[in-house]
Amino acid sequence: MSEAIRGNASGDVMVEKNRRPTIVRTIADLRARVARWRSAGETVAMVPTMGALHDGHLSLVEEGFRRADHVVVSIFVNPTQFAPHEDFQTYPRTEASDVDKLAALGTDVVFAPNALEMYPLGNATRIELGGPATGLESDFRPHFFGGVATIVAKLIIACGPDFAIFGEKDYQQLAVVRRMVGDLTLPVTIVGGETVREADGLAMSSRNAYLSPEERATAPRLAEEMRRVAEVARRRGDVAAACEAAGRALIEAGFRQIDYVAVRNAATLAAPSGEAGEPLRVLMAAWLGRTRLIDNCAV
Ligand code: PAF
Repeated sequence: MSEAIRGNASGDVMVEKNRRPTIVRTIADLRARVARWRSAGETVAMVPTMGALHDGHLSLVEEGFRRADHVVVSIFVNPTQFAPHEDFQTYPRTEASDVDKLAALGTDVVFAPNALEMYPLGNATRIELGGPATGLESDFRPHFFGGVATIVAKLIIACGPDFAIFGEKDYQQLAVVRRMVGDLTLPVTIVGGETVREADGLAMSSRNAYLSPEERATAPRLAEEMRRVAEVARRRGDVAAACEAAGRALIEAGFRQIDYVAVRNAATLAAPSGEAGEPLRVLMAAWLGRTRLIDNCAV
């Protein structure tokens, strides 16, 4: 049996034996369980996922336990964030092994609803976004953030957590969720978790499973080029030229298409104002064979 270290914001740390999370399929059941914790004065962190869990997700669960008494992980492959030509049907669905991984961390509840539970028949409501949702991913996946924001709002409303934790790997998503939660005044604190990388620098992603061995060997070039752009931006050099050079280098390395290589204001994701001390972020998306990889880093 493995052990899970559990702590919370008040500094209490407990060690619990490996135990199976309770699998919850309905919003009513989830609400009832969270209400029982709340009536005991206990706190809750939620980690929304689409499953196919890797160490990046697990680090978010660990962050949840550092902040709260209980962690709920949702596993739901959200249809509204996929365009018809995208990989919704083939997206890896690995619930049994996901639950095993979550058990090893002492996760309390896995919320794994079906599509009808989250999108009742006749559903007709979506969240409309601006601000950090503009450009970058939206230029290539215009449907994406509307679907993400809608499901994340629904998950937060269903669970009512104190904290909701998202990976910085999807940096624009994190910025969109922060903005949406602020704008809708949802009573939850959004926490960003650092990107977890393979030893060769490739950011962990469920979609890395699509890469052929040859593509997998090329994939770390994305992070290498990203660091080069970050270095130029740090020196306040010619960022536009650096972004172009990075795109060219990736095509030469075997990438099929570059969607974007950009340096943006780290908070708003708008074009940099040029003011001294402005926090910046490098963001990129590129296709390697049939796999679209994204990455980002601070400047
Ligand atoms: O990052 C993801 O896995 C998804 O976009 C999320 C936040 C779980 C919403 O479906």
